[in-house]
Amino acid sequence: MRSISGRARKGQVNSGLRHARKGQVNFESTILAQPWLVFRPKIMVSNGFNPLFMSKLLGKRALVTAGAQGIGLAISRHLLQAGCDIVVHYRHSAGAARALADEAKKLGRRCAALPGDLTESEECDRIVARAVEYLGGLDVLVNNAGSLIARKSFLEADDSFWAETMSLNLGSARRISRAATAHLAAAAKANGGASIVNLSSLAGRKGGHPGSLAYATAKGALLTFTRALATELGPHGIRVNALAPGLILGTSFHNTHTSPEAARATIAGIPIGRGGTADDVARAAVFLAAEFDGFITGATLDINGGVYGC
Ligand SMILES: NC(=O)c1ccc[n+]([C@@H]2O[C@H](COP(=O)([O-])OP(=O)(O)OC[C@H]3O[C@@H](n4cnc5c(N)ncnc54)[C@H](OP(=O)(O)O)[C@@H]3O)[C@@H](O)[C@H]2O)c1
Repeated sequence: MRSISGRARKGQVNSGLRHARKGQVNFESTILAQPWLVFRPKIMVSNGFNPLFMSKLLGKRALVTAGAQGIGLAISRHLLQAGCDIVVHYRHSAGAARALADEAKKLGRRCAALPGDLTESEECDRIVARAVEYLGGLDVLVNNAGSLIARKSFLEADDSFWAETMSLNLGSARRISRAATAHLAAAAKANGGASIVNLSSLAGRKGGHPGSLAYATAKGALLTFTRALATELGPHGIRVNALAPGLILGTSFHNTHTSPEAARATIAGIPIGRGGTADDVARAAVFLAAEFDGFITGATLDINGGVYGC
């Protein structure tokens, strides 16, 4: 149907098309053919948040690791706006985590903050147990904690650096997910589904920039972990997906590890012509957490402005 040109094909039933002049955009016929064009502006609000997710996530209980700053903070905020009650884990960002509780209150939602080092198994067990106690269960887990730690070449990265990078970027997701599985399965049984979202990286796809070999290896393993866990937890009603963000600016990650010149050089290779924002990632996290028909699992959603080639 050629609704944009406004010209009807012979025999087509569309009153709007019949009245269109040649070459003119006929909005009436376009809308008849594509009704979502009418509804779309009404369901998007200024920050790009889609209230349709609210119906899926309203009253759901979510845990976000490292959820008080950077990408994690944006995810926490979007989950709150979608109607979730949340527990925000943090390592050092205590003030930011407390501020989030005030934001939640204004939205009529509940939010608690829990500190902990996710490279320690007991800490992970304790955080999940306390989160479940506060929330009364768990429907959504976002494994966001992770860091490059430092830029080190292959030869510079000794055993202890390698182990630390793996433990934070892969091990933390494994430990927290393991502690959360029984609770997510219970929620899935009661409510028809539960969801894990893992924060991987474009580096896990492509190998990353110089000095990120250990990090890229951990993030690549996190993608495999995501697919394997999706297979194992699918029968329990738990979907497991990953996000693979590219360059996300305004984060301490890049403020610490990437020079402005290196960021400019990276942006020059991004087809969409800009770096990403934490909100770009948070919207995708909420989509995967809410996903309408519950059929997306084991997937990786790339958020990178069009950088592929592998
Ligand atoms: N920024 C990007 O461009 C980008 C691109 C791709 C993927 N990612 C991934 O997205 C996620 C968030 O990125 P980001 O840029 O927002 O990260 P970030 O600013 O570097 O923050 C890392 C977070 O990890 C937490 N953390 C560090 N060590 C920890 C430990 N031992 N135990 C528990 N938590 C610990 C810190 O919490 P506190 O602040 O509370 O100390 C911090 O919030 C990470 O997994 C990152 O690898 C980021």
